[in-house]
Amino acid sequence: MSNEVNSRLERMSGMLKRRGFILPAFEIHGGAKGLYDFGPNGGRLKNRVNQLWLEHWTSLGNIVEISSPTITPYEVLEASGHVGEFSDFMTTCLSCQEVSRADTLLEQDHPNPDSLSSNELDTLLEKIQPPCPSCSTSEWSKVVAQNLMFNTTIGAGNSGRPGFLRPETAQGMFTSFTSLYRHFREKLPFGAVQVGKGYRNEISPRQGMIRLREFNMAELEYFIDPETDITHDFGQWDKLSFELLSEDNGRIKMTIREAVSKGIVRHPTVGYFMAMTHDFLVAVGINADKIRFRQHESKEMAHYATDCWDAEIEGSYGWIECVGIAHRGCYDLESHEKYTGKTLRARREFTIPQEIVIDGWTIDGSIAGPAFRSLAGKVKTAVEQLPLATDFPISLNIDEQIVSVESTHVKRLQKTETLTGEWFIPHVVEPAFGIDRIIWHVLDHAYTETTKQEDSYTMMKLSPNVVPIDYCVFPLFEKDGMGELAKTVNHKFNSKRGIVSSYDSSGSIGRRYARADEIGVPICVTIDHQSLEDNTVTVRERNTGTQTRVHIDEL
Ligand code: ATP
Ligand code: GLY
Repeated sequence: MSNEVNSRLERMSGMLKRRGFILPAFEIHGGAKGLYDFGPNGGRLKNRVNQLWLEHWTSLGNIVEISSPTITPYEVLEASGHVGEFSDFMTTCLSCQEVSRADTLLEQDHPNPDSLSSNELDTLLEKIQPPCPSCSTSEWSKVVAQNLMFNTTIGAGNSGRPGFLRPETAQGMFTSFTSLYRHFREKLPFGAVQVGKGYRNEISPRQGMIRLREFNMAELEYFIDPETDITHDFGQWDKLSFELLSEDNGRIKMTIREAVSKGIVRHPTVGYFMAMTHDFLVAVGINADKIRFRQHESKEMAHYATDCWDAEIEGSYGWIECVGIAHRGCYDLESHEKYTGKTLRARREFTIPQEIVIDGWTIDGSIAGPAFRSLAGKVKTAVEQLPLATDFPISLNIDEQIVSVESTHVKRLQKTETLTGEWFIPHVVEPAFGIDRIIWHVLDHAYTETTKQEDSYTMMKLSPNVVPIDYCVFPLFEKDGMGELAKTVNHKFNSKRGIVSSYDSSGSIGRRYARADEIGVPICVTIDHQSLEDNTVTVRERNTGTQTRVHIDEL
């Protein structure tokens, strides 16, 4: 990072802290790495980003919002693969014992160190000897995999059971599949969204808001039938060229329709969500020229993914992943089915009913019933799966018990059945947004420094969609009734649903405009002597500084 960028970052971080956007959490106790507060201005901005995100997706009509607990039993995250797979490679500085993520140490020396195995990382660390960020020496321990989940105990004493703070909101949507399926009258496609906290015990959180240990996620799980041809209307993006870094084609620019039709983006719904993601980022104020999509290399993909594109945003820290759009296949539902024995399927009706001829075995209830008692139903299901050529007796594992099925327990089953449909495990496409990284880039792109009368002047050119305050109302002086009138106008704004207005009477008008500009207030309204006579006020626009006289009733 150049000195210029670094010193801009320092000034910006100072302002964001001073004006209550984002600040290190628990600072009076010395703070804690990877934990941040959103202050009075940041909190409102975050809520607006979240709200906009929810509306962006639920407005599609077949997507609902749900909310599930952040504390998650061990079994859920074992089934999802996180217990076994959710880790990063860590290495320890042999001199100062500071731990670092092995791939981040090699970012300058390899185009994609995230895709390397532990052996490859060991070899590169030895060859390159990157300096320790803490003490600058360059001797590193062997790389080890470190699981990133925070573990906890749910309940006390003997009744306590192991659990984790969730590393993603997604599992709550998968475990709620049955309820969602019922809600949507058993018709795919549909989706569920969730906005909430995710927790990852990151190995070495540096770069402020980019790598947090507790962070705000917004995820959509969209359930589809893999055998239905899905079409999306890409028309609204036909004039927009997307910057794509594709696994096979390198850097290319093309419309999303073209990328899908050429198979560069491997599934139309992934393409559709990439375009929707682009629109959302622009709506919250990200500069469209600083957005690109990078496809994961096959080796780099998460354990559940079959295709994944990251939306990356360029800012003071370079290009940073802010959204991951992954095709998760049927990985999660299938895995939860296997672990729980519960069916997590959708039904597909055939256009033409299918006749199937069954020639195999079933149980003879009069003999097998008394022999297998409570297991008889499950033995019947297992026997009906056996091929005609099966030799009895045969041992079967039913609910962890080995039962011996004799030839007297079974009889031949021959019949023709008409099938009108079948049950299958839906596939899932998931856009996963990191709200903090997006907000950080919104602030980074909005932060503008100019020089005014030889003083440096700071303005946050935030999108009106996410500003913490919509209007500031100033009385020129608080006397002669100007204060009262300004309070009335301020109250009038605040009484409109969704509008936030702030009254400010301290300091000169110039200072008040400067304070409002610094937090990005788009419109300031000033009440002066003339207002008392003719009910007109001055409306001043942030970006242009233009001032217009407007009647109060027209505000
Ligand atoms: P990275 O490679 O940077 O660790 P990731 O690939 O693990 O990120 P995902 O698992 O895809 O990230 O998570 C989805 C989104 O959540 C990311 O695109 C990012 O915006 C956000 N995110 C992930 N980890 C963090 C974190 N530690 N702090 C803040 N945001 C995060
Ligand atoms: N749910 C996507 C992720 O956490 O990676």
